[in-house]
Amino acid sequence: MELEEIIKGRRAVRKYEEKEIPFEHAKKILEAGIWAPSGSNLQSWEFVVVRDKEMIEKIKMASPGLFGNPAMLVIGCINKERAKRGGKIGYPMAMMDVAMAFQNMMLMAYSLGIGSCPVLSFNKVILKELLEIPEEVDPILIVTFGYPPFWPKPPRRRKEVIHLEKFGRAFEE
Ligand SMILES: Cc1cc2nc3c(=O)[nH]c(=O)nc-3n(C[C@H](O)[C@H](O)[C@H](O)COP(=O)(O)O)c2cc1C
Repeated sequence: MELEEIIKGRRAVRKYEEKEIPFEHAKKILEAGIWAPSGSNLQSWEFVVVRDKEMIEKIKMASPGLFGNPAMLVIGCINKERAKRGGKIGYPMAMMDVAMAFQNMMLMAYSLGIGSCPVLSFNKVILKELLEIPEEVDPILIVTFGYPPFWPKPPRRRKEVIHLEKFGRAFEE
């Protein structure tokens, strides 16, 4: 698949088939994540991979924004101790890093025929308890992965958000 096709084809998937993701593919997805750029190359991220069905079910119950029955969850976290090395901007920088890592993962997944969906709506306290995430590690985003029965239609993109040279000028030749 061409990169443009992968970028435009990826969709937020909220319905999944009952099908496991081969470990080799899971590995490719996670590896794509950690090859993302990070501010000052701090890599203040941690990723918890959950493939156990019972645990996924428990996490679902604490996550109102998580839909369908994904085969795998990746919980993206910020290691606050490590992020401190970035000073005052360490934490917001780490949030951007995690977002970039997840975009890599979602694109890699799509190229392997695997759907995904970011989930911001979850209970942090319950999630930390369930996954034994230590105090200094802050879960900030879940991404679900699995095989979609169909690819959802793309929502319209707001082209007017692109400005040429100065704000308010249309991006046209
Ligand atoms: C930071 C972030 C948080 C999101 N949280 C949720 C969520 O809690 N539940 C959900 O179903 N989708 C969530 N989404 C998915 C968006 O709704 C989806 O990406 C958007 O509608 C655009 O659709 P597309 O990804 O198919 O292009 C989230 C996306 C982002 C980037």
